[in-house]
Amino acid sequence: MSRKTVIVANFKLNLLAEEAKNYTLELIEALRSEPSETTVVIAPVYTAIPAVSGALDGAHIALAAQDIAAQVSGAFTGEVSAPFLLEFGCRYVIVGHSERRRLFGENDEIVAKKARAAVDGGLIPIVCVGETLEERERGEAESVVETQLRAVLDHCPEGSEIVTAYEPVWAIGTGKTASVEDAEKMHRFIRTVLGSERGDNTSILYGGSVNADTAPALLSSADIDGALVGGASLKVASFLPIIRAAAK
Ligand code: PGA
Repeated sequence: MSRKTVIVANFKLNLLAEEAKNYTLELIEALRSEPSETTVVIAPVYTAIPAVSGALDGAHIALAAQDIAAQVSGAFTGEVSAPFLLEFGCRYVIVGHSERRRLFGENDEIVAKKARAAVDGGLIPIVCVGETLEERERGEAESVVETQLRAVLDHCPEGSEIVTAYEPVWAIGTGKTASVEDAEKMHRFIRTVLGSERGDNTSILYGGSVNADTAPALLSSADIDGALVGGASLKVASFLPIIRAAAK
């Protein structure tokens, strides 16, 4: 376990299986001539996971789900848990994305249980934290992020591998990106909350309107270990420059 550069494509509710498969094949082809140390991760819709998994066929791109059940199996209609994701080669899972917190009522406890379910199930949770604009304006950004993160840390055994993503809610899908200084400040804060050992070993990604223009400055910061990309990840042509910007 160590801090590595990670760039994640979060498709959200976009790209049908066939589209996601073609995207994956195009991305593999594009990266073939540009070997790098960066861990590139694709998070498609659940139903596209088998198609993307088949297209990856051993390529150096990791597969992620966008959510996970807190349970393992049983009478939980509509849920998908770790063994079902592992079956298709998923390595990562996004948990606590602000859209799930805001639109689907996931609170810190649910997010923490999902992160624990991922860890116990052999997946690496990409734990999303971030404040709303009102919270930032009230000067509560750090306390909100700390509360969200501590809930997860309290549930996951010391030594379990997690990735953290700082995603200010006001920057997601809005075209507004946190300044490099604000993002760095929060990333350093998150590292102190993680504690010395965990902080040294946990990749902290930035997310929120990352694109080809904003990625170079964000990713050149020593405190920003990668990016969680939504809109700009939907086309290989707009995702590739972000992967390239990470090769620092
Ligand atoms: P965005 O989404 O890049 O479209 O802002 C990021 C995310 O929600 O993970």
